[in-house]
Amino acid sequence: MHVRPERSKDAVMICEVTQAAFEQAEYSSGTEGAIVRALREAGALTISLVADEEGDIVGHVAFSPIVVEGIESGWFGLGPVSVSPDRQGTGIGARLIRDGLAMLRAKGACGCVVLGDPRYYERFGFREDARLRYPGVPQEYFMAQPFGDEVPTGEVAYHPCFGAA
Ligand SMILES: CC(C)(COP(=O)(O)OP(=O)(O)OC[C@H]1O[C@@H](n2cnc3c(N)ncnc32)[C@H](O)[C@@H]1OP(=O)(O)O)[C@@H](O)C(=O)NCCC(=O)NCCS
Repeated sequence: MHVRPERSKDAVMICEVTQAAFEQAEYSSGTEGAIVRALREAGALTISLVADEEGDIVGHVAFSPIVVEGIESGWFGLGPVSVSPDRQGTGIGARLIRDGLAMLRAKGACGCVVLGDPRYYERFGFREDARLRYPGVPQEYFMAQPFGDEVPTGEVAYHPCFGAA
């Protein structure tokens, strides 16, 4: 298995892996595959990495810009992240997330947020941060990872594609 940026011919398989992964997740909107597609079409898929196993795509992670109080501030959101149901729990998600975060840093991003289970995401350096608020979810499920000293303060919004899909 190796992790690499998506290529245009990967789009269908990425959608399939995403839908299959989230089918079994209790907190799925059922639209995660469409969100990835919409982000790509909107030019907002800043980082899109696949886990490639001899040509089969068995995992995917997306990073897209977020706004804080409506202002783009060099921060990004991790997600959706997906691993094929039959390959979950074998470290593929962790590889995708670590490689994606390293790429974001290398691009000069200021930080990254994630919405998810702290028992999983804390291992990658994400922590609850009172400065960044995401209404509608219990606060411990919304975590941030600054790459420098500055953390903007206020309400976070993901790219509109998360709602439109
Ligand atoms: C979440 C997901 C991307 C993780 O990828 P993965 O390759 O299965 O996970 P890894 O092998 O890197 O890590 C396995 C560890 O994560 C834990 N884990 C996996 N998914 C988890 C979740 N949703 N919540 C909490 N812990 C989780 C496992 O219990 C295991 O813990 P351990 O290392 O302490 O034993 C993958 O399981 C998946 O696609 N799930 C369905 C879609 C989903 O929920 N996406 C994330 C939405 S926030």
